[in-house]
Amino acid sequence: MPKRGSWRTRFGFYLVAIGSACGLGNLWRFPYVVSENGGGAFVLLYLILALAVGMPLLVAELMIGKSTRKSILGITKQTSGQNQILFRWIARASVVLTFVVLSYYAVISGWVLHFAMQFFAGLVRNTTIDPNDFLRNLLGNGLLQVALASVHLILAWLVVIKGVHEGLEKWIGNMMPLFVFLLIWLVFKSISLDTFANSMRFLFYPDFSKLSYSSLISALGHVFFTLSVGFGTMITFGSYFKETDHIPLAGFRVTIADTVISLMAGLLVFPILLHQSQGRFADPTLLFEALPRLLTQSRIGNLFGLAFFICLYIAALGASIGLFEVIVSNIVDRKKDIKREKAAQWTGVGVLLVSTLPAFSSNFLRQFQINGRGILELIDVFLISWILPIVALGMSLGLSKVLDEKVMAAEFLAPNKVNSAALYGHWKIALRYVIPGVIILGFLLELLGLIL
Ligand code: PFF
Repeated sequence: MPKRGSWRTRFGFYLVAIGSACGLGNLWRFPYVVSENGGGAFVLLYLILALAVGMPLLVAELMIGKSTRKSILGITKQTSGQNQILFRWIARASVVLTFVVLSYYAVISGWVLHFAMQFFAGLVRNTTIDPNDFLRNLLGNGLLQVALASVHLILAWLVVIKGVHEGLEKWIGNMMPLFVFLLIWLVFKSISLDTFANSMRFLFYPDFSKLSYSSLISALGHVFFTLSVGFGTMITFGSYFKETDHIPLAGFRVTIADTVISLMAGLLVFPILLHQSQGRFADPTLLFEALPRLLTQSRIGNLFGLAFFICLYIAALGASIGLFEVIVSNIVDRKKDIKREKAAQWTGVGVLLVSTLPAFSSNFLRQFQINGRGILELIDVFLISWILPIVALGMSLGLSKVLDEKVMAAEFLAPNKVNSAALYGHWKIALRYVIPGVIILGFLLELLGLIL
């Protein structure tokens, strides 16, 4: 049996886990769902749910990964009885979800790559780009989107086939600090815009009347998405942990880092969006529409644009590598005779085929819309606000049954680590009751909204 890789350093885990958690969800999706749900009150809801629901589930995923040294599909083999049936279905659902999410994630990452290249070209030729044609040309060309998605998938694939050390830890580890550095620099630039005060008010002043019946489930879906829980990613990452690593602390740090990055993304993006769009920005393409328009107004716009899209691309690549790795490690754990390279190759081809659907949603399949939402947006809402919370519900119920009492206690109460009996009690209550309860409440409110 091949030896399972493990993180070389503890810091390596943090870089990869945070690199996988911080992605398009923070910079592209967070601003648009916050806008759709009216601003400050939704941000507050998101913060509470990240700590009370997202973090406990993240800790549980890391813990089962560390204790079994397997990915989610591999774990199903070790369970028995009724637990096995429940867990097997959750595991399958989470892997399928990861697969489909990667396919539309690759398309949007391709957009980012395209924008980065355009700004680079503008910089080299010292020309300004016409912002109106920028997105329209891209969205009108399905083949270009498929081509960009394939370049993106090839890059992710190259990293994944290298394995834990040479692949994940080295690449994401190098990209993360650059990402954070660029983000901080851009936030400082954005803060100087005259819309900064208004955007702070929009982001942090909670006007609860702006929330709708769908807000709770949207916030939950987004928390799971942005923390990469419910996909089995953190189970796979946990399986590379060393015995001495402390899971609750790791879960806490990853949650805080991801949340801080989302808030920074808000500080970066909202002043720019408010500057551009007179408050209308509840649309997945708006980031791509508004930013180039602002950037092409100034002389150093090309440089700023290039930096922003490189930053976004680094985040998207890190997250895609995480998604890709989960699928591959599950295949390898499940089918021992399949090599990592082969599994990665077939995964890449399969994902690319599925990605043609979102890639053609803004051109050939433009007519297909429900409530004014095209295929790509429908996939996003359906997967993240419906399927992901259902999988997370199953995951919390499944994990609370499958996790061994001794393993849980050892993580929280080990004498040589930060330990707390009270925290252990709260975490168990969160896993068993709070997470399922809040998800069910979210769905009930959503249904109520549909009926009323
Ligand atoms: N958390 C990533 C984001 O916010 O963009 C998305 C993601 C990456 C989800 C990796 C799941 C995953 F395994």
